[in-house]
Amino acid sequence: MDVTREFGLRNVSSHCSISEMDDYDLTKLLDKPRLNIKREKSFDERSLSELSIGLARGLDNFESSYSPGGRSGLDTPASSARNSFEPHPMVAEAWESLRRSLVYFRGQPVGTIAAYDHASEEVLNYDQVFVRDFVPSALAFLMNGEPDIVKNFLLKTLQLQGWEKRIDRFKLGEGAMPASFKVLHNSDRKTDTVVADFGESAIGRVAPVDSGFWWIILLRAYTKSTGDQTLAETPECQKGMRLILSLCLSEGFDTFPTLLCADGCSMIDRRMGIYGYPIEIQALFFMALRCSLAMLKHDTEGKEFVERIVKRLHALSYHMRSYFWIDFQQLNDIYRYKTEEYSHTAVNKFNVIPDSIPDWVFDFMPMRGGYFIGNVSPARMDFRWFALGNCIAILSSLATPEQSAAIMDLFEARWEELVGEMPLKISYPAIESHEWRIVTGCDPKNTRWSYHNGGSWPVLLWMLTAACIKTGRPQIARKAIELAESRLLKDSWPEYYDGKLGRYVGKQARKYQTWSIAGYLVAKMMLEDPSHSGMISLEEDRQMKPVLKRSSSWTC
Ligand code: GLC
Repeated sequence: MDVTREFGLRNVSSHCSISEMDDYDLTKLLDKPRLNIKREKSFDERSLSELSIGLARGLDNFESSYSPGGRSGLDTPASSARNSFEPHPMVAEAWESLRRSLVYFRGQPVGTIAAYDHASEEVLNYDQVFVRDFVPSALAFLMNGEPDIVKNFLLKTLQLQGWEKRIDRFKLGEGAMPASFKVLHNSDRKTDTVVADFGESAIGRVAPVDSGFWWIILLRAYTKSTGDQTLAETPECQKGMRLILSLCLSEGFDTFPTLLCADGCSMIDRRMGIYGYPIEIQALFFMALRCSLAMLKHDTEGKEFVERIVKRLHALSYHMRSYFWIDFQQLNDIYRYKTEEYSHTAVNKFNVIPDSIPDWVFDFMPMRGGYFIGNVSPARMDFRWFALGNCIAILSSLATPEQSAAIMDLFEARWEELVGEMPLKISYPAIESHEWRIVTGCDPKNTRWSYHNGGSWPVLLWMLTAACIKTGRPQIARKAIELAESRLLKDSWPEYYDGKLGRYVGKQARKYQTWSIAGYLVAKMMLEDPSHSGMISLEEDRQMKPVLKRSSSWTC
């Protein structure tokens, strides 16, 4: 694939090399020449006048956002200033709360803390900057024409990737990105230092497989939004990408192109029975591969990766579209499967025993609609529906246009179950009783319809909105945003809601959870100006179009 196709013509001289930087000093970076904000061709939908406003806005914000000492904080968000109609009163409140969550390193913003919850007696690690949590914050800042914090974050986490990572006496892969980091301010010595967690402090000691993928996706969003290719082209960013990719493209004993994962390696960071090949990770993996393909240089080192990515994408999309996809027809086919088939002619390739299909899925499956199931491995299909994986499948074009439309049809057909009174269920349905005991290890935080076990997470609103825009169904997003607006501010931006309908503020939910705030802002801004969604969605790559449709691969 042609790299220049994605980012328009290259005109690159590397203004900013990370190696020129003091290892722990971001301030120097900001003395470098300002970015040249320019929008690309793919933003054609915008009128010229809008573009020039955007340009002026971007430059204004460069001046106002980084006043010495950092906290300029309270400038009017460009998104609401630009409205011809009155912005929702929540928008200004949300911006204020988002800015309050900013984390500074040597006077420069480098991220946002997970939750600003003073009432909570237990901070745990919610005072840290989580890589995955920062993504919606980053998108909000990019959409508001404030890209510098995103650049700082990308560079800071890149430095952290370079650390030697150990858990007890075991050394982690070089490319691993942290789940989170914290800035420690020493007021006596006037120094700032950073501590990072790659899984060695995390509950359950699990490494975040999603962090590296989000990092790549964010680098592409930054590049797409600013038109500044120089950051992605620095040898340091190129190396960072390659290191992440070598972790997931290495050859081993795998018979599937999907990525084998431990439980709790993503947003769902506790035992929830998602070990194996979770959809959440496969969709992010696919998206990160496609983003890398657009950003990797075709030099000696990059070229080898490009070739491996192309092959993997091909196999991965085939596998996912064929074996993870389920709709009424497919479910009926699986229900009638024969088992114990041997050899290449097998229809039931993974030897899934029809008796293992849970009862709920027969009622849940509408005649119109479908989704990517949670997991597929030998004799195991996890039929649960997961929000993030399905939305990212749409945004990355892992889903074919037909599949994307079917996922949206499912949202409409099963609105009560998946959205209810608060968007959006993280997974459906909840697991209970004996199954809950076995699968979660009796986790009291993940009881039925709470937290990761069928809880409702407002942060997912931005992904749903982006998916709605991509599939041309903005009215679905509008409905979801209205629901969020009726509760979020009043309830002080909870991390998650509980219950079958998502009616109750989550049992142990933090308040002022940053990604709930940022997720709302991003959803609002995208709906207001759909061209924003371009930074987080990828068009279909025609070369990857499957020859086979829907369930035919099972019968060929
Ligand atoms: C919880 C969530 C995780 C999130 C973190 C910080 O651990 O499960 O997804 O990143 O909190 O908000």
